[in-house]
Amino acid sequence: MPVGAIMRAMHKPIYERRLQTLVSTIVPFLKQGDRVLDVGCGNGTLGKALMDAKPGTFVAEGLERAVRGGEPIKVHAYDGVKIPFGDGAYDVVIVADVLHHEPDPDRLMRECARVAKRAVIVKDHQVAGPLAQQRISFMDWAANVPYGIVCLYRYNTPKQWDEFPARFGLKAAGEFRSMDVYPPIVNVIFGRKLHYLGVLEKV
Ligand SMILES: C[S@@+](CC[C@H](N)C(=O)[O-])C[C@H]1O[C@@H](n2cnc3c(N)ncnc32)[C@H](O)[C@@H]1O
Repeated sequence: MPVGAIMRAMHKPIYERRLQTLVSTIVPFLKQGDRVLDVGCGNGTLGKALMDAKPGTFVAEGLERAVRGGEPIKVHAYDGVKIPFGDGAYDVVIVADVLHHEPDPDRLMRECARVAKRAVIVKDHQVAGPLAQQRISFMDWAANVPYGIVCLYRYNTPKQWDEFPARFGLKAAGEFRSMDVYPPIVNVIFGRKLHYLGVLEKV
């Protein structure tokens, strides 16, 4: 079996636990009738899992600069720069583990804030704790290289996350600075404080 296929197989249970945690964290912040845009949706499973968590409650669509094909939700392709929707076109924009793959994360975040009517939900990494940079970089490499996704190995510190929402005219309505995103042992090394999730509302 090729190395890429082995890494993808090992990643599957880890990815599923991450998905469950993201869904249970995000769903309480969504409202009946919300239109949700998942920017950098990848395989589209987060949007589908959100809709399945509360069937008929909200609609999720994806947006990708590298559409993979076969996603379980509607996915829009774009150039990765200018989101092809008007101001406030979606109630909520999600950008999950995408900003650290984008060479100009502030530009992408400004676009997310523009298209969001109520809130942008950001999931990303946080450089907190011993050898955090090294632990995140390894996890990032292992999770993305098998899928051909480029890693830049640039992540925010807790202080950078503190200052983050105001730069985009947003304020934190909910913040998670430690998340149990992986199965128990993996979570001790690669989970917890290495993860950040902010529900950032329009001011
Ligand atoms: C680590 S994957 C995350 C996928 C998905 N959000 C998830 O949580 O499973 C990062 C994704 O971000 C996408 N991406 C990177 N920069 C982007 C940009 N400027 N606009 C849209 N997607 C982008 C990549 O193509 C890749 O699919």
